[in-house]
Amino acid sequence: MLGLYVHIPFCAKKCFYCDFNSYEITRKDEKSIYIKNLIKEMEFYKEDFKERKFSSIFLGGGTPSILNEDEINIIFENIYKNYNISENAEITIECNPGTLTKEKLITMKKVGINRLSIGLQTTDNNLLKSIGRIHNYEQFEKNYNDALDVGFKNINIDIMYSLPNQSFDEFKESLDKVIKLNPTHISCYSLILEEGTRFYDMYYNNEFELNDDELDISIYNYTINKLKEDGYNQYEISNYSKKGYECKHNITYWKCENYLGLGAGASGYINDYRYSNKENLDEYNKDIENNKKPISEFSSLTKKDEIEEAIIMMLRMNEGINIEDFNKRFNIDFEKKYKNVIDKLINKGLIDKNKNNIFFTQKGREISNSILVEFLD
Ligand SMILES: C[S@@+](CC[C@H](N)C(=O)[O-])C[C@H]1O[C@@H](n2cnc3c(N)ncnc32)[C@H](O)[C@@H]1O
Ligand code: SF4
Repeated sequence: MLGLYVHIPFCAKKCFYCDFNSYEITRKDEKSIYIKNLIKEMEFYKEDFKERKFSSIFLGGGTPSILNEDEINIIFENIYKNYNISENAEITIECNPGTLTKEKLITMKKVGINRLSIGLQTTDNNLLKSIGRIHNYEQFEKNYNDALDVGFKNINIDIMYSLPNQSFDEFKESLDKVIKLNPTHISCYSLILEEGTRFYDMYYNNEFELNDDELDISIYNYTINKLKEDGYNQYEISNYSKKGYECKHNITYWKCENYLGLGAGASGYINDYRYSNKENLDEYNKDIENNKKPISEFSSLTKKDEIEEAIIMMLRMNEGINIEDFNKRFNIDFEKKYKNVIDKLINKGLIDKNKNNIFFTQKGREISNSILVEFLD
């Protein structure tokens, strides 16, 4: 597996909870300058990847659906010109309701995109407004139906829970409504209060209360069970899909396979080094204009780093770690090396194992972050 991630750092408006690397557009030529540089960055890596084939492409953001039809066309023309893309590659674009049109969807289909990931967050219009979204539920529904009309068969819907002033009942209604639409994939995230966001300031100004851990975990368990009943299999902490519709691109990350990341703030993992690009748009643009890769951090991973990263990432997936594959890949005896941690976590009912794999139990998944650190030296 080899993934290609392309970051589009623009949004119509910043949502109150979001700390992704994205900016409201302030200058008319901002998008066109960025795209010119993104294409140049693709060329920087062309030679390195001429013998390799990408199994997935993911245009993420920000809001990639803010691009107009010409911009979508030119980005994909250059992806295909510079890289070998597998014939059955999964090609995803993140979309935000309020920026999508039927014409855009037709263009997306034409350039080879075969998976949409649409951010809905909640179906309640008051709540949508109160978290800073630019759209209402009806706009989302129209976009979703247009996407089906245009022929998209693989669609993810993002939703969130434990939002400020969101009751458990409201969340249940949102989830029901989303399930009725019958998408192939649902990502469901508990709100994370991120420093630097509007919500962060509001919370510390006592403008709302957050759900306590107990309620948050109840909603999580409800989601897992409800989605299971309706044919959605949880395959990662926050991701659920119909059989065969697991997101290949994200699995590339969780299995610690290689990916090339392009665009401001994007990160990549190539052979055994990891890098992150500069987040700031001016700095990103300036480096590329000076024929320099816009990298801010670059690290060559030691074997120990690679092993620890792989444990943390693989345990996110319900299937967990395949012991034989892991031992072969890192030339170690996983069960022997981590015997103490494994025994302790099994005794506490937080992880479990079968003949081939070690994986989180449901109880473990609820508090996954606090368990993962146990594997770090
Ligand atoms: C990279 S974002 C972009 C999606 C797209 N721009 C949109 O908003 O429709 C992917 C998803 O992460 C989730 N997300 C973003 N910030 C979050 C936060 N602070 N806590 C929990 N989930 C978050 C949202 O569900 C969002 O749709
Ligand atoms: S959630 Fe999506 S639309 Fe909202 S600011 Fe973040 S990236 Fe932009």
